[in-house]
Amino acid sequence: MALAEFLAQLDQLVADATATFSSATSVDALEAARIEFLGAKGGRLKATQKGLGKIEKADKPTAGKQFNEAKKIVDAALQEAQQRVAAGASQAGDREPFDPTLPGTAMRLGRLHPITQTIEELKDIMGRLGFTVADGPEVEDERHNFDALNIPIEHPARDPLENFYLATAGHNGSPLLLRSQTSTVQIRVMENRPPPVRIISLGRVYRPDTADATHYPMFHQMEGLLIDRAVTMADLKSVLRLFASSYLGDDVHVRFRPSFFPFTEPSVEADYYWNGKWIEFGGAGMVDPNVLREVGYDPDEVTGFAFGLGVERLCMRRHQITDIREFYKNDVRFLRQF
Ligand code: DAH
Repeated sequence: MALAEFLAQLDQLVADATATFSSATSVDALEAARIEFLGAKGGRLKATQKGLGKIEKADKPTAGKQFNEAKKIVDAALQEAQQRVAAGASQAGDREPFDPTLPGTAMRLGRLHPITQTIEELKDIMGRLGFTVADGPEVEDERHNFDALNIPIEHPARDPLENFYLATAGHNGSPLLLRSQTSTVQIRVMENRPPPVRIISLGRVYRPDTADATHYPMFHQMEGLLIDRAVTMADLKSVLRLFASSYLGDDVHVRFRPSFFPFTEPSVEADYYWNGKWIEFGGAGMVDPNVLREVGYDPDEVTGFAFGLGVERLCMRRHQITDIREFYKNDVRFLRQF
């Protein structure tokens, strides 16, 4: 082959390659162009290289040198085009490329806190037993938290160290505190309506306890109150047993121990059996005649029972949670499980 012909082929190749590389706008198009010109098998540069063998011996050094020059130009053009396409791709989206063929992943939805879920379930169970929901404030006066509940002035439950008293007093000058029990709602309900009464009240209570596995300075109680003619202790025990088997399961063992509360007479503590131990789930009793009188009810006409249960304890037993602090850490790894 004549040198001139070879050099003409080289020129054409360089022109075609640089034009193709610089017009490529995608990684794929550029790769196809690279294979067309620089492919190790069947690439146009490789094919042109074969012509070198047919050049006159005297012309070979010139032809070889020109070939190397041409290859350098084509390589450089490719590199430049590769950088341009890569930069363009990252400009088009710093976001991850969207692959519509990937399988869908479920969205992570928010959910109710386990205590809120428990409260909803307790309302449901008690609703089926005929109890409606009543509400009361978390900031209370001493009358509703203590006096009307027959808790005498010298009772240790009134100790400032056992309660969160507020710095500001109520409108009548009476000290205010964060309620230490939901029994306050019993008084608020009875003050405002005549018997019969059949209510529950669920909400937060506050006590300055040091947090540990079973104590937290804020927790939840479910208060229950039933007032009617001829209500007896048997009614109380039936309701608590029905409640316990509805929430904890038919195989639950419940026992009642004699106890004392200022607002009930007689009083009991209710325990359920779990993991080889009796665990208290609340206090209860027949509403003390002093409490009935205090709200203007006639103890000779009506009697009733009341109970107060710890919501966290019930939820912990249901879900095998061993540390009450888990509820209030806001750790999604814990919360996501409910
Ligand atoms: N208020 C009591 C407490 O916080 C629980 C309680 C006991 C409530 C007996 C009652 C009751 O209504 O009758 O420990």
